[in-house]
Amino acid sequence: MEHQGFTLWFTGLSGAGKTTVSRVIEQELRERGMKVEVLDGDVVRENLSKGLGFSKEDRDTNIRRIGWVCEVLSRNGVVAIAAAISPYREIRDEIRGKVENFVEVYAECPIPVLAERDVKGLYKKALAGEIKNFTGVSDPYEAPENAEVTYHSDRETVEESANKILKKLEEMELIPMREMAQ
Ligand code: ADX
Repeated sequence: MEHQGFTLWFTGLSGAGKTTVSRVIEQELRERGMKVEVLDGDVVRENLSKGLGFSKEDRDTNIRRIGWVCEVLSRNGVVAIAAAISPYREIRDEIRGKVENFVEVYAECPIPVLAERDVKGLYKKALAGEIKNFTGVSDPYEAPENAEVTYHSDRETVEESANKILKKLEEMELIPMREMAQ
């Protein structure tokens, strides 16, 4: 059966769990027979957006590129999953307007928790003023107002967050129900 393409757009601060949860969803959708491609901010910045920095202009360019790839993939029956901070609401909404099935997922986590976890050691540096324009510390992050799904990575397990997303996609009839084991 041909599946319908769509774009699952994660947004949230660095370290909020976008990559982790997106990879779980990727795996799960593959198991349900769908074609999936993840566009992860860190990976895209090594390839498609190599050389771009973190000014508003460069972030907008980065996000529009990711949005364009999601648009062409999803209109060809692929599930495109974007996992970049995408801090500006206006740009996310611009992409929403272009992509037929756009599902926004907000990976929410309070800054003190992110600074405490500090997986990449970036918050410590940003809080010490060593990284300029760091999202959530010294650069804006505009949380979504109408995300289809919000998860809270400080108080949910990865599995709980992934299940919230899968349930929503099933409700929207974008993915088939998982067959129950006999
Ligand atoms: S976005 O703003 O253009 O959407 P993107 O998701 O591609 O950002 O890249 C964010 C990643 O780049 C972070 O997870 C972090 O590892 C790294 N990074 C380096 N400098 C910054 C910064 N100034 N602000 C945010 N992230 C940064």
